[in-house]
Amino acid sequence: MPTTGVSIMDGAKTTVKKLFIKTYGCQMNVYDSERMAEALGTDGYELTEDIGAADMILLNTCHIREKAAEKVYSELGRLKPLKSARPDLRIGVTGCVAQAEGTEILARAPIVDLVVGPQSYHRLPAMARGVAAGARLVDTEFPAEDKFDHLPSRPKPDQKPDRNPTAFLTVQEGCDKFCAFCVVPYTRGAEVSRPAARILSEARDLVARGVREITLLGQNVNAWHGEGEGSDWGLARLIRDLARLDGLARIRYTTSHPNDMGDDLIAAHGDCEKLMPYLHLPVQSGSDRILKAMNRKHTAQGYIRLIDRIRAARPDILISGDFIVGFPGETDADFQATMDLVRAVGYGQAYSFKYSPRPGTPAAERAQVPAEVADDRLQQLQALLTQQQHEAQSAMVGKEVSVLIEKKGRQPGQMAGKSDHLHAVHIDAADLPIGTVAKVRITDSKPNSLAGTPAIGHS
Ligand code: 5AD
Ligand code: SF4
Repeated sequence: MPTTGVSIMDGAKTTVKKLFIKTYGCQMNVYDSERMAEALGTDGYELTEDIGAADMILLNTCHIREKAAEKVYSELGRLKPLKSARPDLRIGVTGCVAQAEGTEILARAPIVDLVVGPQSYHRLPAMARGVAAGARLVDTEFPAEDKFDHLPSRPKPDQKPDRNPTAFLTVQEGCDKFCAFCVVPYTRGAEVSRPAARILSEARDLVARGVREITLLGQNVNAWHGEGEGSDWGLARLIRDLARLDGLARIRYTTSHPNDMGDDLIAAHGDCEKLMPYLHLPVQSGSDRILKAMNRKHTAQGYIRLIDRIRAARPDILISGDFIVGFPGETDADFQATMDLVRAVGYGQAYSFKYSPRPGTPAAERAQVPAEVADDRLQQLQALLTQQQHEAQSAMVGKEVSVLIEKKGRQPGQMAGKSDHLHAVHIDAADLPIGTVAKVRITDSKPNSLAGTPAIGHS
């Protein structure tokens, strides 16, 4: 589902221009949209939620599944009347569709002024000036320089004191794993880790702005490595260092690959209090034959043993996953192996998809599973995953949990936040301060959230 960019930064320039960003797809894109808004903020742009008032509209796109490019072209079609009414309006396409389609977008959509791939966002302010002067620009290079070195540092507390208490922080980008179904290695490029010092300084800025929870992001976040004080650091060491920041209450990370789940990271789940008991660890399939065809380089049993070790370190950890059904060559027996793995692991939460051939990836060339068969498997898998999610949520009823208060609830007299296990919790209380961690007694489990009442105080 598309979402609207959320971060606002005051432009120091005299003429304020309005920027509207529509974000598709993953959390990396949500983070990138925030950083793009911050970069353009240095050039006088301020975010608006009113598309009709925008001087510039950016569609920050995702290419991971079906017909992504077509969806972008139809969205651009819907923007035509706006552009006709206001010829000064500038329209840009960013993200992975921009990377994959490049100049093709300018050819097919005359209303587009700007096409920028994910590695070039630091060049946005200069490009925005170019398009304001009438140029049509494309940048889909993978520059040698690190875009994060050039994006402006995040706004200081005096600029935005009241932001949401949760934030994403990208620590790693790209992927070298080349799963046979996936476009990410082509659209986001090779795995690159940001330096520890830069991450820690960005985290300090976020905490100074009132952020209490940071989610470290990367396509292969647990492959992150860097030069830290004293030695080479892995993600566990980075997490332990972040945990020393006063004021930061919670740390999460996503998305991980099973093969990069090192002993030190597993240990951190056992002894680092600020590391939340939630792990998104995609497995994709429970059949070794299909895992091999997917080029996943792990087996179903290997994954189950890994989960056992993680649970030994942190027994209450909630496991989340990604699954693909209908991958080329998947038989009924392969699909049953996936159902067996789901029963063996027990997921508190999960995402499941029908395989979607992505042009340029190896699996797209293979004989495809009929759509009705894949649809039927997806339904069965989703029914099982939904049942497991409900069981995990129901098990919370009657328990006291910690909730980071994020906002007022939809109903009057309610506050809303997330539990340690990342459950959305609606609390019957009108006045819990945003950014505090409250003790809440869970009273009910709803389809996608929990309800509760305040227990003892908050911190
Ligand atoms: N078809 C279906 N699902 C896919 N994913 C990635 N590529 C495809 C594809 N071609 C899913 C995987 C991945 C998640 C982000 O999206 O499950 O973990
Ligand atoms: Fe795609 Fe596989 Fe890399 Fe994940 S690990 S981004 S699924 S290629």
